[in-house]
Amino acid sequence: MKVKKAIIPAAGLGTRFLPITKAVPKPMLPIVDKPNIQYIAEELKKAGIDEIIIVVSPDSEVITRHFGERAELEKRLLSDGKQKLYEIAKETRSFNVKFVVQNEPNGLAGAILCAEKYIGNDPFALLLGDEMIYNEPNEQSCVERLIDVFDKTGKSVIATMEVFGDDVSKYGNIGIESEEDGIIKVNAIVEKPSVSEALSNNAIIGRYVLAGGIMAKLKALKPRNNEIYLTDVLDELAEKGELLASAFSGIRYDVGDKLGFLKANVEYALLNEELGEEFKKYIKEISKKL
Ligand code: G1P
Repeated sequence: MKVKKAIIPAAGLGTRFLPITKAVPKPMLPIVDKPNIQYIAEELKKAGIDEIIIVVSPDSEVITRHFGERAELEKRLLSDGKQKLYEIAKETRSFNVKFVVQNEPNGLAGAILCAEKYIGNDPFALLLGDEMIYNEPNEQSCVERLIDVFDKTGKSVIATMEVFGDDVSKYGNIGIESEEDGIIKVNAIVEKPSVSEALSNNAIIGRYVLAGGIMAKLKALKPRNNEIYLTDVLDELAEKGELLASAFSGIRYDVGDKLGFLKANVEYALLNEELGEEFKKYIKEISKKL
């Protein structure tokens, strides 16, 4: 079965980014002129996903508004002859998005379960809202790579990157059974291990394609500390030999982190058609003073 649906959990409290996240949800923080969640929606659209379910917190109506219609604005831009701006405004409502509300902050698995009525038993992509991946226009994106592996094998697949030293403790970590043609067979998962507990240097990043039936597996889990964990389902799949991992092409930015957010803004500004050249001059100028 083809992967046609995706979930973007976007209901986090954004405490790493206070005070702005008190009123502005983290997925709405701009990378140049676009909220970071729109880049993720674009990555999905390009990969052929035609239904995106965004899991929002009860007070995140600004995300809903961003993907909705603002008829007055569009009408005004058209009557003023501002065709390009009209296209930009219109594009934000070109995504097939549905919203579900996560009422309590009960973790990633809780967010996924909120989308159950739209996913049912189908396979789906899961893209964490904190992470953006830059790809060259003709390069295969991370989610396209995962869908490719899923299409060939029918197994759940997660994206991984290499990390070293203390950084292994920041991410989920995989045990490697074997590797062939860039596809890793995963035999265990540990969530944020200490350096000595790490199974490998391969960290899980926020891109997954999960095979059908995951919702039922999540619901069958026993809670730990009153929460259920996606990691527990992934570990179960790994034990049964049903979990794969793959590296990906492109540059990953953790835009939920202040430094990652700043880096993404600088690099996307340098690539920006309108601003790039001027901005490059400015960066060269100020770097002399550093
Ligand atoms: C989540 C996952 C973790 C993964 C990380 C990637 O953790 O639980 O396995 O490595 O995303 O960003 P979080 O960052 O939400 O604590």
